[in-house]
Formats: sequence, C-alpha cells, structure tokens
Amino acid sequence: NAAVSSSNHKKIWELTGNELQQILQTNIIGPFLCSKEVIQWAKKNRHHIRIINVSSGIVDKGAPYLGAYTISKMGLEGLTISVANDAIDDRLISIVSIKPRSVRTYMTKSFFPKKEYLAMDYPDVLAPVFLYAATAQRNEILGKSLDEPCFSADPGAAITMENKLPLIQPLKMQTPVYRSEYRDKGGAYMHFLQNPFGFCPSVVEVLSKVVNNPSVHQYPDPNYTQLREAISAYLNVDPSDISFGTGSSELIDRAIRIFASKRGNIIITKPTWAHVVWPSCIKYDFLPIEVPYTGSVKRKNIKHDLQGILDAINDWTKLVYLVNPCNPTGSIVEKEELRSFLRQIPSHVTVLIDEAYIEFCEPEKRLNLALEYKEVNCRLIGLRTFSKFFALSGFRVGYAYGNPDTINYLERLSLTFNISSMSQLAALTALKDKAFQEKVYKHNFSERKRICEELDQMDIPNMPSQTNFIVFDCPMDREKMRLEMMKEGIFMPNIDAALGGNLTATAVGLYEHNQKILNLLSKY
Ligand SMILES: Cc1ncc(COP(=O)(O)O)c(C=O)c1O
Repeated sequence: NAAVSSSNHKKIWELTGNELQQILQTNIIGPFLCSKEVIQWAKKNRHHIRIINVSSGIVDKGAPYLGAYTISKMGLEGLTISVANDAIDDRLISIVSIKPRSVRTYMTKSFFPKKEYLAMDYPDVLAPVFLYAATAQRNEILGKSLDEPCFSADPGAAITMENKLPLIQPLKMQTPVYRSEYRDKGGAYMHFLQNPFGFCPSVVEVLSKVVNNPSVHQYPDPNYTQLREAISAYLNVDPSDISFGTGSSELIDRAIRIFASKRGNIIITKPTWAHVVWPSCIKYDFLPIEVPYTGSVKRKNIKHDLQGILDAINDWTKLVYLVNPCNPTGSIVEKEELRSFLRQIPSHVTVLIDEAYIEFCEPEKRLNLALEYKEVNCRLIGLRTFSKFFALSGFRVGYAYGNPDTINYLERLSLTFNISSMSQLAALTALKDKAFQEKVYKHNFSERKRICEELDQMDIPNMPSQTNFIVFDCPMDREKMRLEMMKEGIFMPNIDAALGGNLTATAVGLYEHNQKILNLLSKY
C-alpha cells in the first residue's frame, strides 16, 4: 500500500485538477501498474499470486476535506472488483481489498488533530484481517472488500454478513458458568442478574396445571391478547403501543436492523450493555459512536453523560441506546434530567431506553416514559423484560412501548408467533402476582442498602445502585473472588471488562449468599 492524501485542508471543489490527479496517480494508477506487472509475471511463470489492496473505511461514508482520498479509495475498490471479474476463471490470480480503521501512520498524523491521532491504535491491530486476506481460500475472498473493524470484532459475522459468504466460523456463545460442574452445589445463580428468589411460585402452579392442555402445544395467540392487555394496564398505555419480542434482546436487534443505514450511526454509552448492540451493529453495518460516562465510583457519581450524547448527535444519527437504570453501573438518570434530555433530541432520531432493571428502582426515581413519548419530538421507545425482576429469562419475553407509529417500525420485523403459549402464560401470571413482586422489591431494596453500607465500612468504594447489582472497587483479584464463590455454589456476575480498572460487581442475592461474599471481601 502506498497512498497519499492532500494535507492542505481544502474542500473538494477547491482542489485543482492537478492536485486531484496527483493523488489518483499514486493511489490508483500506482496499484493498477503494480497489479498489471505482477499479474503478467504470474501468468508467464504459472505462479499463484494474491493481491491485497489497502482501501479504507472512508469509502462507506467519506470525510470532510478528504474528498480526493475518498475518490481514490473508491477507485481502488473498483480496481479490486475489476481484476476479480476478469480473473474469475484464472485461478492463478486472487485479489481482495481491506478497509482498515484509521491507525497511526505518517499520513494520518498529517491531517488528524493531535488528540484524535493519539487516540488511534497502532497499525499492528490490523494484522488479523491481513492474515485472513492472505490465507483464506480464494473463493472466500475473491473481489471482496473486508471491513476491518467488523472483522476484528467478530470474524465470523463480518465474513458472513458483510460479504454474503458461507459461514466459516459459526457464532457461538459460551456455555454460562452456572451450567458447569459447580451447578450441583445447589447455590445462587446471580450470574445473569435475575432476582434471587427465582421462579415465582404462582407461575409454577399455573404452568404445571396446563402442561396437558391443547392451548399450550398448539400455535400461540399471535396477538398476545391477554398479556398485551395486562401490560397495557400495568403501564397505563394503549394496547397498540406495545410490541413483543423473544426477550428484550430481540427487540434491540430488531430496532438496530430497522434503523441501521450505511451512512447512519447509533449513539451508545461507554460502557453499555453491549451483548446485543455490538453484534447487531456489525451484522447490519451500523456505526456505533460511544459516549463515555462521567464521574467515578470513589465519588459515587458515575452517570450517563447526557450532554455528551446530545453533542454527539448529528444529521446521520438514527438511534440512541440508553440503559436506564444502567447495566453495568447500576446508576440512574435523575427524572428531570432525563425529561429535559429527551425534549432536546431532534425529530430524526429514535431513542431506545432499555429499562431491563426498572422494577428494582425506587418508584419515585422512575420517569414514566409512557407520558413522555407523547411530548417529545423524537421517536421514543421504552424497553422492558420479564428476565430480571420476574426471573423468567428462560421464557424469553420482552416488550417495547411507544407511540403506535414508532412501535409500527418494530412490528414490521416481528415474526408472527414470537412468544410461545407457555411463555405468554408465565409472563401474565408473574405480572399479576403482586405479592411476589413486593417481596422481590423489598428484599432487593434492603439487601442492596445493607451491602453498600457494609462495603462503606470496609472502605471499599462502591456505587449507589438502582438495580439489583452493585459496582465496587475490588480489593482482591476479581477472578479469584468469583472462583472462591463458585466453589460455594455462588455464581457472581462478570462485567469487569465493561467496567475497567479494578471495578467489578456483585448481584443482590439472598442474605446468606451476600454475606458469604462480604465475608470474603472483609479478609482483604
Ligand atoms: C440492560 C439489558 N438489556 C437487555 C437484556 C436482555 O434481556 P432479555 O433476557 O430480555 O433478552 C439484559 C440482560 O442482561 C440487560 O442487562
């Protein structure tokens, strides 16, 4: 690769013909002449060759003041495809191009502001995609344009989705640790942040009565009528304001699929609950823009940077994804602050507020989004799940609510029988069981308070939480802590990577399990 760019910060129409020509000469004519030479040599010597053109992520969106460079890299993509087409029956010749992210090079140094340049990775992060381009089978790469950031994040998804090629590396989720050999210890499965009491007894009772009933082995109600009505009453929204998903994960994926566009971007916080957002952005070619939190655990004031999010919104922003109260930090945005933020979001943006943990939050701190979506300019979607507070994660029931015209977007991509009959019934029963809900809420509230107080007494910095988990600065090796607890049958969450530093989290479990964790921490 040898590429140049004009560093004189001119708009495209300010360039002279000569200036454009110079760039095209190096960036397109150069690779063309080299390719021509090496192809002729390969044909003459009956030698296999592979050409890897270094294109750029810029071809998807362009960038201000880099018009000539953009044109040249698009031309290079054209060269790649043209050689591939003409060489399709000539197995001696393979060609592929790579679109890398911007990394530290002499060229990027010359036109990026210093701060942005210093935030870039060194070029070695690009090695895996080059290795793949150099070694993959010819028919997997011929004429393709490999998107390096997607490839680095998930090679299987990038190759399959971006390039419409056969799956060479199926996407697999790791089997969760609680399904491991420690399962038989009969302990606490706090790993996935569900309420610690587990299955609601009334759900067990109702389900055990209907197992032989035809209504559960035949196709489910495609309109989820009873559940829809129950949720409509629960949230005080119109039944048509609700869309159901196979867990809220599926609704996040669906929202990204709907609003993703090649030029568009989604604004997320850093960190966020990334399990669905990142893979879906990769699948649907959507650019995530991350806005870091402000505050620190030491000062007990970590929170979403709402002004940062507003500043990051541009004309190409399609979606904002905000988890509130937040996974992984447990913090919540103050009601008034959230209301004012939502009112400042422009009308071309859709805001998805993921309320997976809202039922653990103190009622006076909850902003009723059902009242807000009628007042704001943007499209606003609230997202809920039966997985956490209602402990029904295995049943996969989530729902979104918002104005019907917004909800219609989500409905467009919904499958007809998205939620099984058993799951509809389980969710309906859990929603009706107020006694169970009160027990879960009260327990979580008092244990959460107690754990934070105990951590304070041990001088372990921790974050006030409005969820069922608490972030703290771990005084011991975090992996060791989890292993020690696992031996006792207690499965702690592992969200260290999202939090960074020495931060980790514990879920609010039953008293005896929380106590065991606190006892261990008190030794350090
Ligand atoms: C913030 C957040 N949203 C959504 C989900 C997924 O929930 P569901 O089981 O409904 O797909 C989780 C699960 O951990 C979560 O933490």
